[in-house]
Amino acid sequence: MGQFVSPKKIYYGEGSLGKLEDILLELNVQNVFLLADPILKEIGVIQPILGLLESKRVEVVLDTNVIPEPTLEVGNQVVEKIRNSKPQLVIGIGGGSALDLAKAAAVLAENEGSIEDYLNLSGSKKFINKGLPKVLIPSTAGTGAEVTDISVFSLEDTKDVITHEFLLADYAIVDSVLTYTLPPRVTAASGIDAFTHALEAYTSKNATPLTDTLALDAMSRIVPNIRRAVWNGEDKAARDQMSLGSLFAGLSFYNAGVAGVHALAYPLGGLFKIPHGESNAVLLPYVYDQIWPACLDKMVKVAEIFKIPSEGKTERLLVQEVIESLLDLVGDVGLPTTLDEYKIQRSDIKILAENGIKQKRLLNRSPKPLTFEMIEQIYLNAYEGVLKNR
Ligand SMILES: [Fe+2]
Repeated sequence: MGQFVSPKKIYYGEGSLGKLEDILLELNVQNVFLLADPILKEIGVIQPILGLLESKRVEVVLDTNVIPEPTLEVGNQVVEKIRNSKPQLVIGIGGGSALDLAKAAAVLAENEGSIEDYLNLSGSKKFINKGLPKVLIPSTAGTGAEVTDISVFSLEDTKDVITHEFLLADYAIVDSVLTYTLPPRVTAASGIDAFTHALEAYTSKNATPLTDTLALDAMSRIVPNIRRAVWNGEDKAARDQMSLGSLFAGLSFYNAGVAGVHALAYPLGGLFKIPHGESNAVLLPYVYDQIWPACLDKMVKVAEIFKIPSEGKTERLLVQEVIESLLDLVGDVGLPTTLDEYKIQRSDIKILAENGIKQKRLLNRSPKPLTFEMIEQIYLNAYEGVLKNR
């Protein structure tokens, strides 16, 4: 028996942002809370949305209080603003941080307490009310936040999440046009994040035939297009494939879960403020270098996506080449491939490992159980840039 969960409605493809008009009609709303990444206001992306709302005589409270890797403080500020403005609909537009803030705040606004009360590791409250309806519109191709019920918050030395089905969007709109102006580094980091979602979902202990199909499809779109999208941002076909790949990866990992890469990336974000996509990218090859024997068959399938010739090779050799391809992929899109490049010291590895092993929710899905010693070794390999099998 299996189950698959997703937002009620997903609009996708070039120009799908126009569907916002249908949503406003469908819900018959008179006032909206629009939470947007500040950069989107600067580059003119949200002006057409404001124009549409105005033409429909919908009142808007615009909030651009979004920071990367949001803190509890920022989360609670957004909750307060929504509680005060009493909107009928919350629209979140931006990268993963904007969408995470919008979905958590839309639910918190109609429940008691603050963000910290509902955190996975330390919270004690449970949501009673479903909260306000939500439209989530990603402006990057990567986080998948528009189709998940998870909001990530930065704590002092790591991260924690609120996860509840109430956080799931009522509508997701994935329009690749919004990604056309993304700079290369953001395209690279969010694209590798999307790839990591697909690969981790594919090798997750909770993977199902449905999530496998989506994950393989996502990787098949991302691998041949990510370099093109990064180095020629105006390549609309590549951008469209990246947006679709990110959406499919998001649906896959929401149902199968991510695992070791994300678990060990969290302390890099918490302690060293490395952006989410980059912290996954710098660990991706080294985590799979450690866990591949537990997901050998699936890694052989991934070799096909990377178009690695299999003739005359053992499966072991083939998979080692996949792991080298992961390292090449991260390097080719211009992201650091060692922790050293982020000025992390060898002496930091112990505290990283101590924090990483706390992410049991994620680590439980790893095909190979990761011990403290293995986690330390992964960070050390990522620090030195060493693949065991090279
Ligand atoms: Fe991610």
